Amino acid sequence: MTTTAPQEAFLQAFHAEYPAVTTEAFGRGRAPDGRSSYEILCDRVAGSTRVLDLGCGDGLLLELLAREPGRQLAGLDLSSHSLALARRRPALSEAKLEVGRAQELPFADDSFDACVSHLALMLMSEIEQVAAEVARVLSPGGVLACAVGGGAVGGEAYERFLTLLRRTIEEAPVSQRIPALGDRRTRSREGLDEVLGPAGFAPVDWETVPVDLSGTVEQVWAAVSGLYDLGPLDHAAVERLRKAFFAEVRDITTPDGHVPCAFRIRLATARLRQAAPSTGPVPPRSRA
Ligand SMILES: C[S@@+](CC[C@H](N)C(=O)[O-])C[C@H]1O[C@@H](n2cnc3c(N)ncnc32)[C@H](O)[C@@H]1O
Repeated sequence: MTTTAPQEAFLQAFHAEYPAVTTEAFGRGRAPDGRSSYEILCDRVAGSTRVLDLGCGDGLLLELLAREPGRQLAGLDLSSHSLALARRRPALSEAKLEVGRAQELPFADDSFDACVSHLALMLMSEIEQVAAEVARVLSPGGVLACAVGGGAVGGEAYERFLTLLRRTIEEAPVSQRIPALGDRRTRSREGLDEVLGPAGFAPVDWETVPVDLSGTVEQVWAAVSGLYDLGPLDHAAVERLRKAFFAEVRDITTPDGHVPCAFRIRLATARLRQAAPSTGPVPPRSRA
């Protein structure tokens, strides 16, 4: 058993119960320009024909990618339950949808022009291995475009929810806590460069975008309660958290019942260098 097994077992069990949780929680979120975070990522790889979605979940991003004609699409995910939903999307009838680990991609070298990953890279352990695998399956000059979570914007419902959630987790038995997921370096530009550079990628282009999830208190709760941390909590703890959250956002709720809620996503795009990476020690890279 590898050290990542408990994390991956947790993710599989969580998504067996909630196979569409991410699209349900974040699909309706909108950036200031009106696009969803899925649409933004899709636009980042416009013109790429062969595209892989790493940690594709129930296939919403792949469905958006399929709107560009002539594309060859592939998706990979640990969760067979999420993939079953992706397979039901008519637009993905031709897509290669594989259950598997990003650390061991079941694709040949140079199979793709682009790889996208929406709120998934940040969950992956052995991240150097993932970077090496993505570099292997991308053609030289290929693009990796990913969205990773960037926390609350501040002064709104998501920030308040996170404060309440922290308290709930502290009070919960250890058996109701999730395993540490992923590698923190994926959440910063410098960290991601440290991971991707040795695999042959040029420095990342990094952008932070606020995503608006405001709505009725029920809609906002539906979004924030999709976080992994709630999975192992018992029903009573979740119910206490829900009640506390509803009370906590009362003073920021507008007279027409609108609760402001937003989170940040970090959008990272990196291009695989044309030349194959050296097999020896990696020389330090300068950044512009
Ligand atoms: C938060 S969900 C995002 C799903 C989808 N990308 C979306 O945004 O709707 C993260 C997904 O990454 C998958 N995942 C996490 N680690 C993985 C790994 N090592 N290999 C393949 N999939 C992985 C999970 O199973 C899960 O479906």
